[in-house]
Amino acid sequence: MSTTSNRIEVLHGVNLRMLGRRPAEHYGTVTFDQLTQQIEADARELGLVTGFFQTNHEGAFVEQLHELDGVAGGLILNPGAWTHYSYAIRDALELCGLPAVEVHLSDVQNREPFRRTSVISDLCLATISGKGPAGYREALELLRAELGGAA
Ligand code: DQA
Repeated sequence: MSTTSNRIEVLHGVNLRMLGRRPAEHYGTVTFDQLTQQIEADARELGLVTGFFQTNHEGAFVEQLHELDGVAGGLILNPGAWTHYSYAIRDALELCGLPAVEVHLSDVQNREPFRRTSVISDLCLATISGKGPAGYREALELLRAELGGAA
């Protein structure tokens, strides 16, 4: 059954839908649809329900964050390149107030210097990067523990 508290919203930002066509040395070969299916299956196994959203439009991402109050218990976000500079997304995340985990497929700390900056990480319970799709499962487990389920 889906209640607000066991529903995790998974938000993907700019360029993430192109997974499968992005540099494999950073992102692997998994497509966006495969990643989504994997996250959904992992969540189900953990007793969680997922909602998914992807956009290439920063304002739409912000508006989605505005809509989440009362809809989800927590969120996983991978805003893509916006992570590194979007104060608009940071402000919307702060406003949203839900427990959040930041996930990056690639190892952002060991790529170009601009990727080492995240303007959202201090608002998140954790930042997971460089673990590929497995990072999302770790994020689901963290949120489940945070929402009162077993770790
Ligand atoms: C990313 C890392 C970002 O630096 C990049 O702009 C992305 C994807 C990741 O998942 O590794 O688009 O968030």
